[in-house]
Order: sequence, then structure tokens, then C-alpha cells
Amino acid sequence: MSLTIESLGHQVSDGQRQRQLLSDLNLTVGPGECIGLMGDSGSGKTTLLNLIAGLEPIQQGQITLAGVELAQASEQQLSELRKKQLGIIFQQYNLLSSLSVQDNIAFSARLAGRYDTALCHNLARQLEIHSLLNQYPSTLSGGELQRVAIARAMSAQPKLLLADEPTGNLDDDNSSRVVALLVKLAKSHNTALVLVTHSHNVAAKMDKIYQLADGQLSLINHVYK
Ligand SMILES: Nc1ncnc2c1ncn2[C@@H]1O[C@H](COP(=O)(O)OP(=O)(O)O)[C@@H](O)[C@H]1O
Ligand SMILES: [Mg+2]
Repeated sequence: MSLTIESLGHQVSDGQRQRQLLSDLNLTVGPGECIGLMGDSGSGKTTLLNLIAGLEPIQQGQITLAGVELAQASEQQLSELRKKQLGIIFQQYNLLSSLSVQDNIAFSARLAGRYDTALCHNLARQLEIHSLLNQYPSTLSGGELQRVAIARAMSAQPKLLLADEPTGNLDDDNSSRVVALLVKLAKSHNTALVLVTHSHNVAAKMDKIYQLADGQLSLINHVYK
């Protein structure tokens, strides 16, 4: 398994009061499996991704990522895990404006100590950004920026890719194209994908769709597929 979540619970404080945001949440994601995560604003989707990424301490339950149990891992192990096993794609792309497209793509691979020129070029070709390699982010369209962000996340060959509303800024046509490419890449590299989206069309491209509500996940494939 790329990711296993068992009996995960998480409380947040609303002013004076503690609120149970996630409770007894379970999920397993296998290699290359693509999971869509839906749910109302404030239901805890981003918090769940942050917990999986080891960016928030685990309060209750267990998350095991690429064989490492996060609650038992040291800060250094978590940082290694993030560098080497995890790719993250945000809605706002988060590209480095002072680096060319090519260097943005290579960035996470270099960080992971796994830079591979052929792979970077191959990703750029598959994502149709090959002609943009010497340009800078400020000269690209939203769809192009998001495809560069995907190439950057994949260049380190992560076991798991987390994407938080990655198509939130794109029109329908661009969303469909970007997500179709993302799923194809995840499958061909055996990278598991957990993708938060509000779009039914985007969710329908995933292998499984879960809804987060009242702290728990329920499978809702039947609604969209
Ligand atoms: N560290 C925190 N402290 C207090 N409240 C938090 C914290 N993190 C998240 N929350 C609250 O938890 C809820 C879920 O947030 P979030 O995970 O961002 O939801 P979503 O991504 O589904 O919109 C929100 O009400 C937010 O205010
Ligand atoms: Mg969110």
C-alpha cells in the first residue's frame, strides 16, 4: 500500500471550544490508485492532506506512508519522506518565478537527489510543455503553469501525489485536459494520487471518489461514475 489511514481523529479549536474535525477516518490507497476527495468547504479536506503530508502532528490514529508510520517518525524522517516519497500540487501552482520552466521541473527531483534529465524531458513531452522549457512562469497561461507544477511534482518520482483543488483556477476544458494527463502519468509511474476537487467532471476521472462529511469518508462512486 502507498498510503494507509487507520482510525484517524483530529480536533481543532473554534475559539474556546474543541471541535472534532476528523473522527475514526479510514482509507487505503494502493500504488497507482487515483482517489478523488470531495466535501463541503470546511469539512477538513486540506487538513487531511496536511496530516498525510506530515505537516500537522497526528493526534489520534495512524497514517502509514510508503511503509513509514508518521506518528513514530522524527522531524528528519518526515522531511526525508516529503522530499523523496511525496509530491504536492496546489491550486496556486507555487512555481518559483526566478527559475525557468526547465529548472522548476528539475527542482523537486534535485531536492530528492533523484534528478534524471531523460525523465524531466519525458514528463515535459507528455504534459505538452516541451516548447516552454526556457520560458519563465510569468509568461505562461494558467493551464500551462499547472502542467509545469505537475511535471515538477512528478520529477522526483513520488510514491504519492497530493493535489489540493489543482484545477480550481482553470476553465472546464483545461481542467479536463490537465486531470486526464495527471491520471495518465500517475498510472504509468505507479504513483498514487489523492486529489481534492469540487468538480464532478474531475472527480469522475478518478478510480474512486470519497466524500468527507462529519469527519468521515464515504465512497460515492455511484453518484458520479
Ligand atoms: N490549525 C487549526 N486551528 C483551528 N482551526 C483549524 C485549523 N486547521 C483547520 N481548522 C478549521 O478546520 C476546518 C476545516 O478546514 P480545512 O481542512 O481547510 O477544510 P476544507 O479544505 O475542506 O475546506 C475549518 O473550519 C478550519 O477553520
Ligand atoms: Mg481546502
